[in-house]
Amino acid sequence: MSDSASAAPSALRLTVIGTGYLGATHAICMAMLGFDVLGVDVDPDKIARLNAGEVPFFEPGLPELLHKALESGRLRFTADYAEAGAFGDVHFICVGTPQKAGSDAADLTYVEAAAGTLAPHLRRKALIVGKSTVPVGTADRLTALIRELAPAGEQIELAWNPEFLREGFAVEDTLHPDRLVFGVAGDWASQQLHTVFASVIAEGTPVVVTDLPTAELVKVAANSFLATKISYINAMAEVCEATGADVHRLAEALSHDARIGGRFLRPGLGFGGGCLPKDIRAFAHRAEELGVGQAVAFLHEVDAINRRRRARTVDLVRELAGGFLPGTRVAALGAAFKPDSDDIRDAPALDVARMLQEAGAIVRVHDPEAMANARRSYPDLEYADSALEAAQDADVVVLLTEWTVFRELDPEALGQVVAHRRVVDGRHALDPEAYRAAGWTYRALGRP
Ligand code: UDX
Repeated sequence: MSDSASAAPSALRLTVIGTGYLGATHAICMAMLGFDVLGVDVDPDKIARLNAGEVPFFEPGLPELLHKALESGRLRFTADYAEAGAFGDVHFICVGTPQKAGSDAADLTYVEAAAGTLAPHLRRKALIVGKSTVPVGTADRLTALIRELAPAGEQIELAWNPEFLREGFAVEDTLHPDRLVFGVAGDWASQQLHTVFASVIAEGTPVVVTDLPTAELVKVAANSFLATKISYINAMAEVCEATGADVHRLAEALSHDARIGGRFLRPGLGFGGGCLPKDIRAFAHRAEELGVGQAVAFLHEVDAINRRRRARTVDLVRELAGGFLPGTRVAALGAAFKPDSDDIRDAPALDVARMLQEAGAIVRVHDPEAMANARRSYPDLEYADSALEAAQDADVVVLLTEWTVFRELDPEALGQVVAHRRVVDGRHALDPEAYRAAGWTYRALGRP
């Protein structure tokens, strides 16, 4: 893609409803592809920040693109659904589907509110495209709801176009995805989607056109597979711990088998974030509703293995502290659920920090980008402005998110500020030899 917004590829006007990680990125990227785009959100603060050129979350490369898109005059943000209904030919729904409180099911409140608020403003033929991750069957239900509420009635069509973007790579994954999935109920919707994504398709991106339920399933099936792969290697780590084997080398050996591959085979503290944990739970829950719960019952085990990683990391810190956590000073390096993100949703790092604190440890956390979010959600933890400050007088250092700045820490410099040179590498991201050579006791899950 060129640096500046390209020429208008078609006269279609797009709205993007929901301006979180997914929606803001999609709106900005579509404007960069040359479309006139209106971003819609119910949060006036988010709208004001985006219109002022400020991305409300950390995502590498996105602020620069937002500036260019705003400068091109092709992108604006509003809270007004009537304006959105009048403006758009294609409306993308990009709102969140978090886990429902007290249940494993997905909370569809925001999707239903977005569709239900937009529909009464649809007075001419238009396409609504769901991008949010939803339980299979949602699109059929929404089609009926939208057609009932929209003045344009049966002229409104619904499609599902699941989004596979990874935080930290959101721009790349949106503009150059591995594949596009168009879940449609008819040819017109498919044609509209081919027009919107014409330049992406022209790059050779494979397009899979499916019915609506298949498209809904593709997303949860993909995330379940990825979660299963991570938990598989972490299950191997548990076996390694019992036998003195080294899961790090085991994973390396497996990765050379092209049928297995090395991606998503990194052992450690396991998966978190706003997608994988809640998606596998919602999928298992939906399958049970449909009477096929047994088919994906293994996802409960995938979840259980993943949760055990967090508890086991706390155990390792306790072991290094001499079997006793109360009063132990722990430096927790990392809060975000993964590097290059400020997202702390279901973050393994903060879960471990919280558990350590509940066990009586004095926990001081540092993260390069997620400090504000972490402070808001975990106000009782202590926070430090740098890794070295967090490590000051620490009895144990625990690496919880593998930011490059943490990987590049000098074991000798770090050793000079701590009370005891003991480190738990929760992400298999540090060099054990370098740490041991500098006099550290180094421990990692599943490594001798
Ligand atoms: C994920 C999917 O990758 C993406 O396709 C989907 O659209 C949204 O959910 P994301 O949540 O951004 O993306 O993070 P991802 O890079 O998949 O990592 C998820 C978690 O797994 C992180 O906590 C990461 O630390 C962990 N992980 C990943 C591992 O523990 N080991 C690995 O080998 C890979």
